Amino acid sequence: MHVRQIGDTKVSAIGLGGMPMSIEGRPEESRSISTIHAALHAGITLIDTADAYHLGADDVGHNESLIAQALASYGGDTSQVLVATKGGHLRPGGGSWTLDGSPEHLRQACEASLRRLGVEAIGLYQFHRPDPRVPYAESVGAIRDLLDEGKIRMAGISNANPSQIHLAQEILGGRLASVQNQFSPAFRSSEPELELCDELGIAFLPWSPLGGIKSAADLGSRFQPFAEVAKEVDATPQQVTLAWMLAKSPIVIPIPGSSRPETIRASAAAADLQLTTEQISRLDQA
Ligand SMILES: NC(=O)c1ccc[n+]([C@@H]2O[C@H](COP(=O)([O-])OP(=O)(O)OC[C@H]3O[C@@H](n4cnc5c(N)ncnc54)[C@H](OP(=O)(O)O)[C@@H]3O)[C@@H](O)[C@H]2O)c1
Repeated sequence: MHVRQIGDTKVSAIGLGGMPMSIEGRPEESRSISTIHAALHAGITLIDTADAYHLGADDVGHNESLIAQALASYGGDTSQVLVATKGGHLRPGGGSWTLDGSPEHLRQACEASLRRLGVEAIGLYQFHRPDPRVPYAESVGAIRDLLDEGKIRMAGISNANPSQIHLAQEILGGRLASVQNQFSPAFRSSEPELELCDELGIAFLPWSPLGGIKSAADLGSRFQPFAEVAKEVDATPQQVTLAWMLAKSPIVIPIPGSSRPETIRASAAAADLQLTTEQISRLDQA
């Protein structure tokens, strides 16, 4: 498995996104555990989660607990695995997603994630989404305090625009390790943030890289050039998508979601796929 860097930590070039194993439509627990084990077996050392990946209010942290359980039952070496979680979103019920970016909430959320993950410090803690009711500097200030206190080892932000990236980098005193934004063939408006991360040397984690849980299967039919290149390199359109992202910059680390061992194995294999400059420019224009 090829490696890339988040802050001072080397991780696999492709991570595992945990969301499909814990929100609406999630599979039985045993299949999720097998999926996480398959990821580890394939050499994946980055797992992305959030306290908000769950169903109702009585189920908070479902995904974090699942990951902790899968790591504990793996049997192999998991010491190099970076679990990246997030705080700042809530799911009170009925499928809704709400926000709380207050320092008080972020502190409580981090303490709860620490307990569920069973660690002394969270490897990478990401502020999930700006809360319009709370000044961004206050939310990121809370993340800085957690970093200073050693509750988290690295700090990241998510769903941030370029000015928020600059502000976070300033508040964190140059210690912003990652930015996680939506980026896929269908959603390219995060290009400016990707380029800024490349310039600043900050890891960029594209979320929903395959277009999201409901659309991932249709990627090839919606974006023909991805299907064409897939034929040329004997791969799937989803694998070509991941390889295309990896080719954009060494700071890009896609985190495709999976709820089946087959899909995360296929995604992991995409790290080995080499595309030509001509193929990449065709995909850029698709
Ligand atoms: N920061 C944020 O605000 C935010 C928002 C959304 C998501 N995320 C993170 O980003 C991760 C990825 O996003 P996502 O899960 O929404 O969408 P996604 O990665 O675009 O698509 C996920 C779906 O793709 C399928 N898939 C995965 N690899 C495949 C492959 N190689 N070939 C064919 N199908 C494949 C999976 O199917 P199966 O389920 O059948 O395996 C899965 O349901 C999430 O899991 C989460 O960790 C973050």
